[in-house]
Amino acid sequence: MLESIHLKNVGPAAETKLDLAPRLNILTGDNGLGKSFLLDIAWWTLTRKWPAEVNPKLTTGQMARPRNGEEASIAFSLTGKAKRQAYSSAFNRYQQAWTIPVGRPVNPGLVIYAQVDGSFSVWDPARNYWRKKSMTEGPERPHAYVFSPREVWDGLPGERGMLCNGLINDWSGWQKERGESFRLLSAVLDALSPDGEEKLTPGALTRISLDDVRDMPTLRLPYGQDVPVIHASAGMRRIIALAYFLTWCWHEHVHASKLLGQEVADQIIFLIDEIEAHLHPRWQRLIVKSLLEVVNNMALAARVQLIAATHSPLVLASIEPVFDEQQDAWFDFDLVKSEGQERHTVQIEKKDWVRQGDASSWLVSDAFDLGSARSVEAEEALNEAAEALKDETFDHKKAQALDQKLRTLLSDTDPFWIRWRFVGEKRGWIR
Ligand SMILES: Nc1ncnc2c1ncn2[C@@H]1O[C@H](COP(=O)(O)OP(=O)(O)O)[C@@H](O)[C@H]1O
Ligand SMILES: [Mg+2]
Repeated sequence: MLESIHLKNVGPAAETKLDLAPRLNILTGDNGLGKSFLLDIAWWTLTRKWPAEVNPKLTTGQMARPRNGEEASIAFSLTGKAKRQAYSSAFNRYQQAWTIPVGRPVNPGLVIYAQVDGSFSVWDPARNYWRKKSMTEGPERPHAYVFSPREVWDGLPGERGMLCNGLINDWSGWQKERGESFRLLSAVLDALSPDGEEKLTPGALTRISLDDVRDMPTLRLPYGQDVPVIHASAGMRRIIALAYFLTWCWHEHVHASKLLGQEVADQIIFLIDEIEAHLHPRWQRLIVKSLLEVVNNMALAARVQLIAATHSPLVLASIEPVFDEQQDAWFDFDLVKSEGQERHTVQIEKKDWVRQGDASSWLVSDAFDLGSARSVEAEEALNEAAEALKDETFDHKKAQALDQKLRTLLSDTDPFWIRWRFVGEKRGWIR
């Protein structure tokens, strides 16, 4: 597992320190405070390559650049098979690269990274581990398998052939073969989708164009259509891609481990950005729990560490029943300005987990820092109304105008009415 990250003079903050939990790690915070950046850093500490360095087609996952003119370092610690190790890497300005400690690093297990733009990366200990000790040990292995969004669907070309056939070819091949891969893919699709009409079920293979000879997988949708996967909604495509990628990674890993005569990985680290991306609330409410379940069921003997960024209050509400402070952690990124300071700084704080009960309450918690889970107009009117309630001498005409405004902004059943009406009647604003 990834135990800690300590950054100096790299990223939005001058210094960033994080002690990660062994199972679930949730990152929250406003746009631009460095959640995705931290996931890129996490990927690098585990694999020593930036995603865009492995695959130049990527527009995200670039090498971290130090803040101007300052010494920068990335320190981190990992535990792998029976071994814990701490590392520190400094930025070498002359080489414009992060120095990497020599020697065989700790094997972090299978590392999977789902980026927000639909690119996916995997680092497989059976296929990407640094095993080369001299120039005579055969050709270089790929550093990692890094897929641009399109390559996940159409396949990942390598230097000497295809590294991966992609979702469309693999799914249709697996479906025709009716073997273990198709069974696993179907089970993963089932686990990641809500019960009822929205269950993701593979339909019959089809062709979509005279110019594309591939058999196209479809989804059987409740309105009586088998919809080609490339026409499916963005949310469904996100889930399909996740389901396929997990299935592919695990199968290839098992296969490669067999070939090498090795045990399969006993550890899986899964980085996922904006875990709710494109998903309807019904799906958002499932995603963390079902992903953990899927990975645990796939790799029965492996420990699973999940590091996920989210902007969804529902995701936080949904994990309340499973969150366990012994093995899970919540980190909140915030802009802070201390007294006397001219500028804001970004701070990452490990927060105590306090159940909020529902998504609205999460919106007004430290995770999202909103004044209320309402429109800006309703929030302003309610603030005015709260002032009015406190002020015994509040002008009656103004109170009546405010009453009219509240009627256009609040629902008829809003709990605020009880107090407003009680005080209003007592003071004679409302008759
Ligand atoms: N390759 C990079 N090198 C250095 N800093 C970066 C790099 N990429 C992003 N950043 C920093 O991260 C910020 C963007 O944060 P990001 O992680 O995308 O935000 P979010 O929290 O919304 O995911 C940028 O403003 C910049 O400070
Ligand atoms: Mg982001």
